[in-house]
Amino acid sequence: MHSFDEQMQELADEIIRYSLYRVGLDPVPLDGPKPLADLAALFPANITEEGIGGTEALRRFAEGYSLATLSSDNPRFLAFVPNAPTKAATLFDLVVSASNICGSTWIEGAGAVYLENEAISFLANLAGMGEGSGGTFVSGGSAGNLAGLVAARERARYRGDLVGRGAVLASADAHSSVTMAARIMDVDVILVDGDEKGRLTEEALERRYTSLNEVDRKRVFAVTATAGVTNTGIVDLLAGVKAFKERHNLWMHVDGAYGGAGLLSNRIRHLYDGIEGADSFVVDPHKWLFAPFDCAAVIYRRPTDAAYAMTQEASYLEDINEERDFNPASFAYHLTRRSRGLPFWFSLATYGIARYREAIDKTLDVTKYAVDQISARPYLEMAIEPETSIVVFRRTGWSSEDYVNWSNSLLTKQIAFVQPTTFRGERLARLCFINPNTTNQDVDLVLDAME
Ligand SMILES: Cc1ncc(COP(=O)(O)O)c(C=O)c1O
Repeated sequence: MHSFDEQMQELADEIIRYSLYRVGLDPVPLDGPKPLADLAALFPANITEEGIGGTEALRRFAEGYSLATLSSDNPRFLAFVPNAPTKAATLFDLVVSASNICGSTWIEGAGAVYLENEAISFLANLAGMGEGSGGTFVSGGSAGNLAGLVAARERARYRGDLVGRGAVLASADAHSSVTMAARIMDVDVILVDGDEKGRLTEEALERRYTSLNEVDRKRVFAVTATAGVTNTGIVDLLAGVKAFKERHNLWMHVDGAYGGAGLLSNRIRHLYDGIEGADSFVVDPHKWLFAPFDCAAVIYRRPTDAAYAMTQEASYLEDINEERDFNPASFAYHLTRRSRGLPFWFSLATYGIARYREAIDKTLDVTKYAVDQISARPYLEMAIEPETSIVVFRRTGWSSEDYVNWSNSLLTKQIAFVQPTTFRGERLARLCFINPNTTNQDVDLVLDAME
């Protein structure tokens, strides 16, 4: 027995007991950050020459540090884009860890890759991306956007379509990671005006594209559309984006990191018409598809585009690269990778698609309730009509500081975690509903605190 393995059984029992306790908390307390000095004072150094032992390390985590982390799965965590994994998905994450699978290549992880691919196909079919599409799971929407755009740029280079420094068309409401991806790739983002809701439209794309001189037009290799803008939840007019990209033979990248999950709801499916034209599509199961962190799908119409762009070449990889069409390592900027799609796959297999549809619709119900309440309360006003499950609204008469106080006070009292936002230059309140356990009463508590 290796010296690391002493007392393994006892520690295993403690870890499983703690994990079951954490998964069983209903609801899990919000908790929240503590000042650095408080954390430093909690316990003496944890990393020592002799080790403090697993029991003590777990105790310190459970009784100390874990309470200084916000529980993004609390049903009243309504800031940013939260996370609400199913119990099955969270529990299976333990199995994925215990199995220690390297999900990089078919030779290392065929069984796991096969199952992840089932989940990828499920998502690709929702978007109607067609036979032959495929991809992999990466750490988040940011990594997915980078991968999609790298594949786009390399395809344009390969075909000889791209002349000079590359450029991507996007709206000002595209996620910050699109700008970051462009910075990493050393390409430009050419901003396109949005319509009254901030959406990309065919007309505005055409106008902007034809306003470019011939040299700049040759630099454009992709248009990035957003299916669920982070700030407002609005979906770009994808059918128009598709028509535009087909006319000019460009790559269409759809960032559905947050909103792609809405494809499951028959109530809002029409908003996504045109998504089937995507050459690459990103959706994060760790956002509105009930998977634990970190899990984002990046899917390509022609996975070989991605494999051409991102397969790492080395003498010791030559043989496995012959199978490059099946190697998840080839579909994004990574080599070693956790099979992070497996908890999502397990949850889908466990509960079935219908339960997913119901859960998404439940979040849309609570969004509607919030909108109705905001409209009914004289001190509140909607700032923009929501399309998905994000609500942006105004408390009349409030300054920026009032919104911050509202946020701080709800967290201090452990009632909710909310954050203000800025929309069209104005400080406003924003709530994001992705947790099917969030109730109308939860909404009332948050809105009552604004009276
Ligand atoms: C539309 C959109 N794209 C990309 C991202 C980035 O995703 P991640 O935080 O998983 O990297 C987000 C995050 O909220 C998002 O809403």
